[in-house]
Amino acid sequence: MQFGSILTVLTSALVALPATMASRIAQNTYSNINADYCYDDVVIEHGVFWCCFDTVLRFGGAFINHGSFYLFHDRRTGTLLNLGVVGCDYIENYGLMYFNSIHVGIQIDLMTSHVKNSGDFFFMGEDAYNSKIKMPGTWEITKTGSFNMYFDSRPQRGAVLGTVGTVFTNDGQICLRNAYIDSLVVKGKGCINIGEDSVFRYQSSTDIFPASQTIFLSSKTSMLFVGADRQYYAYTIAGWGNGNYIVHSYPIINYSYDTDVGVLTVDASQYNIKYRMKYNIGLGYDPELFELASMVPLGSDLGFYSKTNAGITYLGDVPASSTSSSGCKPCKDAPMFPPEPIE
Ligand SMILES: *[C@@H]1O[C@H](CO)[C@@H](O)[C@H](O)[C@H]1NC(C)=O
Repeated sequence: MQFGSILTVLTSALVALPATMASRIAQNTYSNINADYCYDDVVIEHGVFWCCFDTVLRFGGAFINHGSFYLFHDRRTGTLLNLGVVGCDYIENYGLMYFNSIHVGIQIDLMTSHVKNSGDFFFMGEDAYNSKIKMPGTWEITKTGSFNMYFDSRPQRGAVLGTVGTVFTNDGQICLRNAYIDSLVVKGKGCINIGEDSVFRYQSSTDIFPASQTIFLSSKTSMLFVGADRQYYAYTIAGWGNGNYIVHSYPIINYSYDTDVGVLTVDASQYNIKYRMKYNIGLGYDPELFELASMVPLGSDLGFYSKTNAGITYLGDVPASSTSSSGCKPCKDAPMFPPEPIE
């Protein structure tokens, strides 16, 4: 991997960010010390990057990024176990926010009350087993915003979006590769692209998942996991087919597919609790190719989710007249790291 050599070159140029500069990053800056900006707002100016290696940053005020912010940790050279931005009041991102851990799981607490993202967020990590991402605040991903989680292999513990009382609004793009997201309240008109070996789990007993949000099962190994009751309204599902799964926390008792409107209705039940889920999968599915599964593969080395008939899959190709994913933009590739120093 080329990170090693580039990092060596940069090490001599690493500078601690002077306290007086803390509030405004106006030129490309490399930092490698833990830092507290408890009383400051931090602004990264347009066209400028701030690249932090092996650091824990604490903020007290707002964090406003018009440029690029990189937080990077390499277990081979660094000492930290966690990588984190802790305690900002709020984040506004118009540029790039990039978090990456090499040879260690990514552990991030984004303990902000509010995040507004009109740019791109990337969360990446190598040691999936130890990855843990918490983002308890209220999030707003605008139409131009993207939120990307790309891992080398699937984390056992997922990223947790939101907490009781917060709302995750996605009007842009969420993209997952080898990622697992657990979510509570979701709003918005965006797209959730569940890529290879990825799971999007939605569980809320108080909220209805919006039909305006497209869930795109974009690979053979994508999985939507729905565990909530009160979901009598149809989820909008694109890309169901080629053996990917919609999984429930209760066993499926029976299901039916309305070939005229393209809605799959599933009745699930356990301990006398019954619930019905609806999925707007679109037209053209052949009910002969529907199959229930009791052992659903969880992706990369994680084994199976086993529960009698909890999963439903479609053995055929995704039909041409199935729900369109045209509202989903292609997922962005991760940017190069580290950024080149500008002389
Ligand atoms: C499941 O079977 C019951 C009893 O026959 C029926 O009332 C219900 O509509 C069926 N559910 C689905 C999703 O077809």
